[in-house]
Amino acid sequence: MINDLIQIAKEAGGIIRNAHGTRFSVEVKSDNLKNLVTEIDKKSEKTIIDFVRKKYPSHNILAEEGGEHKSSSEYLWVIDPLDGTTNFAHGLPIFSVSIGIQYKDETIAGVVYDVMRDVLYSAEKGSGAFENGKRINVNSNDNIAESLLVTGFPYNVAENPEKVFERFIEMLKVARAVRRLGSAAIDFCYVANGVFDGFWEVHLNPWDICAGKLIVEEAGGKVTDFNGNPISIFNKTILSTNGKIHDKMIELLNKV
Ligand code: IPD
Ligand code: CA
Ligand code: CA
Repeated sequence: MINDLIQIAKEAGGIIRNAHGTRFSVEVKSDNLKNLVTEIDKKSEKTIIDFVRKKYPSHNILAEEGGEHKSSSEYLWVIDPLDGTTNFAHGLPIFSVSIGIQYKDETIAGVVYDVMRDVLYSAEKGSGAFENGKRINVNSNDNIAESLLVTGFPYNVAENPEKVFERFIEMLKVARAVRRLGSAAIDFCYVANGVFDGFWEVHLNPWDICAGKLIVEEAGGKVTDFNGNPISIFNKTILSTNGKIHDKMIELLNKV
């Protein structure tokens, strides 16, 4: 199935890349004015779902733009057809396609395709993580003061949910620097390949987490909630690190 994942993520990514810099319709989602969806999100999702329906007609599907398919199958495809829609809508070239496959509630394979860099991150449970086919690992930095961290903010950020502002300030003070890229799936992959030492975020969705979590774990990293507890893809709060600065980040996140 990993080859199918790679093929379809690249195909969907090609649609997005071709649309980058052109005109396309942008709508605001009803739940929040900051939350956008473009016609390209929908095109990408349709391409992926059509593929799954054709090749694996019995499998369940959970996709961000509403493409749900429920059956009694033990397989579940978890799809973010365009992660980083705000970047894409504004022409900032940082966005991805993220697809994970679960079997009996456990993620067995995942891919994240960084569309504009044409970089494909992939992992199968127990077989390591890869960037364009080359094995990747988290870095070994154990000093928070030398860490490059990344985070993201939920669309209802103005309400300061889960003390996002205070937590951001705490990290900013202690780490070497904190970034906000705008694609959670890419954030995970940059932890996996050792660029980032840690990533935290609240209010994520299963399609933001599914593939990225497996890729980090297969690269030797750690993914938990803010208390260090194991999480499923349905947890909203994630802390993902190289493992070495995990406890320090838990301490800082819980300081506020
Ligand atoms: C968003 C991105 C962003 C994160 C948001 C997500 P979307 O996904 O991953 O980095 O901060 O919480 O919702 O809406 O572009 O698919
Ligand atoms: Ca997303
Ligand atoms: Ca999305």
